[in-house]
Amino acid sequence: MKVLGIETSCDDTSVALYDSDSGVAENLVSSQVDLHDHFGGVVPELASRAHLVNLLPLVDYLLERQKVTLKDLDGVAVTAGPGLIGALLVGLSTGKALAAAADLPLVGIHHIEGHILANALTSDLVLPAVVLVVSGGHTEVVYMPEVGRYELLGGTLDDAAGEAFDKTAKLLGLPYPGGPQIDRMAKKGIPGRFKFPRPLKNDPRIVFSFSGLKTAVRVVVDDLPRPLSDQTVADVSYELQEAIVDSLCHRLFQAARRKHVPAVYLAGGVSANGRLRARVAEEAMRLNLHFRPPEPVYCTDNAAMIAYAGWCHLDAGRRDSLDLDSFPRKPLSSWR
Ligand code: KG4
Ligand code: ZN
Repeated sequence: MKVLGIETSCDDTSVALYDSDSGVAENLVSSQVDLHDHFGGVVPELASRAHLVNLLPLVDYLLERQKVTLKDLDGVAVTAGPGLIGALLVGLSTGKALAAAADLPLVGIHHIEGHILANALTSDLVLPAVVLVVSGGHTEVVYMPEVGRYELLGGTLDDAAGEAFDKTAKLLGLPYPGGPQIDRMAKKGIPGRFKFPRPLKNDPRIVFSFSGLKTAVRVVVDDLPRPLSDQTVADVSYELQEAIVDSLCHRLFQAARRKHVPAVYLAGGVSANGRLRARVAEEAMRLNLHFRPPEPVYCTDNAAMIAYAGWCHLDAGRRDSLDLDSFPRKPLSSWR
């Protein structure tokens, strides 16, 4: 079965082709980072317009490269939400039009399910598992007994982990998106120069809070001589990353213990973070849990994860009508 995937929930226009016989045939991502960098964050209206300009040419290019036509496909999978509503609408309308034109089944995919299932693109899933979803808009811990069944165990009370990286990076004068920049700078950081809080550390619930970190970094940074030296930025980045990664690891393994699972996974853009991957790998090995991080290209937004999730839905006989709506927010729910 060949499934075309479309992902336009935020600032990346992405299309992919997943073939159930051979895996991901192609995953194309057209980044809008240069467009939004100037504004220090994603401007929703600009994102929608850029998707509109880029999406169809990207689909054409993908089909041409793969030497297939719409008639050779078995379905279209598109991110229906959550995300920026205008951006989502461009992807969803295009997916519907392509499905209608070629008489193909259409499936709308929850963006977070896409991120979770991206783990299956690297190696076969070991289930049941607990998944830490960490992206620009989400920080949650999900129990997955099987593909299509999801139970939310807890999440953030305020900012998402990605937001914490991005907002503090901005305070340090680093370009958008800040996560990869903090990851890069932290490698040169000298431990111990600064100390940042680990909020809710003793809270028995599976909860996160990151909004206080921004204030803590601002208080430290405001007292430092300007311009900030590279070493200072590196040292703040190091301690900030440690604080975020500590909270994330603590809750992931707390949930894994509670659910007695044999495996843990990471999902979403922040799972590209080198320190998070290393810390989870270390702890998983110590506890004898299966863990394999998703390939970096499948951590951040991509259509391969949507095409693969689409295949899971279609293979189980699920499909959507052309009345399908996009949604800016909605918790991930089970469909199996
Ligand atoms: O999943 P994603 O691409 O988009 C959303 O669904 O939000 O995640 C984007 C987030 C951004 O906040 C970005 O800064 C963060 O993922 N990110 C990282 C790294 N790469 C991307 N954060 C920390 N370290 C990284 N290497
Ligand atoms: Zn995402």
